[in-house]
Amino acid sequence: MSLTNGENSGVAAALDTDVDEGRARERDRRFVWHPWSPVEASGQDALVLVSGRGDRVRDAAGREYLDAMACALNSSCGYAHPALVAAAERQMSLLPHYDLSVGTHLPVGRVAERLGALLPEGLGRTLFLNSGSEATEAAVRIAHDYWTNKGEPRSRIVTFAAGYHGTTYIAQHLSGLPTNAVYGAEPFPVTRVRPSLPARELRTPEALPALVQEFEHAVLDGTPPAAVFVEPLLNVGGGVVLPAGFLRALRELCDRCGTLLIVDEVFCGFGRTGRMFGFEHDGVTPDLVTMSKGLSGGYVPFAALSTTEEVYASFAADPLLGGLRYGHTTGGHAVACAVALAVLDVIEERKLVQASATLGEQLLAGLRPLLDHREVLDVRGLGLVATVECAGPEVAAELVAGARARGVLLRRQGAAVMAIPPLVIGESGVAELVSVTGQALAAL
Ligand SMILES: Cc1ncc(COP(=O)(O)O)c(C=O)c1O
Repeated sequence: MSLTNGENSGVAAALDTDVDEGRARERDRRFVWHPWSPVEASGQDALVLVSGRGDRVRDAAGREYLDAMACALNSSCGYAHPALVAAAERQMSLLPHYDLSVGTHLPVGRVAERLGALLPEGLGRTLFLNSGSEATEAAVRIAHDYWTNKGEPRSRIVTFAAGYHGTTYIAQHLSGLPTNAVYGAEPFPVTRVRPSLPARELRTPEALPALVQEFEHAVLDGTPPAAVFVEPLLNVGGGVVLPAGFLRALRELCDRCGTLLIVDEVFCGFGRTGRMFGFEHDGVTPDLVTMSKGLSGGYVPFAALSTTEEVYASFAADPLLGGLRYGHTTGGHAVACAVALAVLDVIEERKLVQASATLGEQLLAGLRPLLDHREVLDVRGLGLVATVECAGPEVAAELVAGARARGVLLRRQGAAVMAIPPLVIGESGVAELVSVTGQALAAL
């Protein structure tokens, strides 16, 4: 059973009876360490969320919000989807999990087979993890070990300075975003490309030659890289849309130089950009693909890394194990696999990838007139990711606060305000999102 569009609005009454907002805030202030948050933050205005349904969430005071942050950018099928809840319950009561270094279970094979069918031919071997960062960690290790297994050790990675691939030490080391600076010894060399053009010009066809040349220099100047590692759209880097043809040019560059191409689909994968995978816009096949967020829709932690049989088979040469010396206790958790299978069913049945493309056009067309506002520098988007780039972070923060006061949750990355709704948002939800964002901007 799946939700119909009409069921998207209206939040189910909270089953949790402990909904004293003040007490919840106080408990949180005293005992919870929040990631990516200043210690001094008072938490007075922190959202205290209790329940959700469809594209809406409800807080402890009973206020309802259209969630254009898609939870942690991962809500593909919306909240309280009965099929996802049932899949988790069923698998939990059958077998919650089993150690995949010892045996296997049914959902892991099923979801691996399913991903193999969704990905381009040749990417049929999948390793499962718990988060996007772990998928990045594994991808870098696999790229390094692949070259060692072949007897030609390489460690350098080429990537975007404004890329974001996660929060483990290795993942943060890839990024040149200021908040990702890691202290201590460099674990391996990274060449971070800083495009000469500003974010608002990067999506134009004219930007392509310069951007490709910058990557060419990065790849060719120095020791042969183990991999080029990029997102199809820079998410945390400010919702930056890249020029059409960029990934195709990178694929050609990697082929020419004999380098692996790793595409991070943690954010873009499973319909977010109006295609099942972001790299489909350019029709390329990467050597490794990392996936997470939309695959389990925010219901359970889950991530995957798919690669070729050639990369996989190279691990037979590992001197100590004859295989990959990497894995986590809950990697490929059976409940997460079962939920992911249900998510893929919902995406298919409700045609959410196509919906993302058409609703994304509606969203972008609705937001574009905001460009006339003196504090807006750019409006850009792809699928159900839309970015309103403001004149500065303070303006962006004010816009987000204004939208929240009007019942819409938007996401801020520096000066970029991003609208990233669950893929189940309908036309009326998009219209509301556009209208509230416009009202909040007008009230600045
Ligand atoms: C493109 C991309 N890669 C990797 C990650 C890291 O994923 P996680 O937060 O699950 O570790 C993120 C998270 O936002 C992301 O957007």
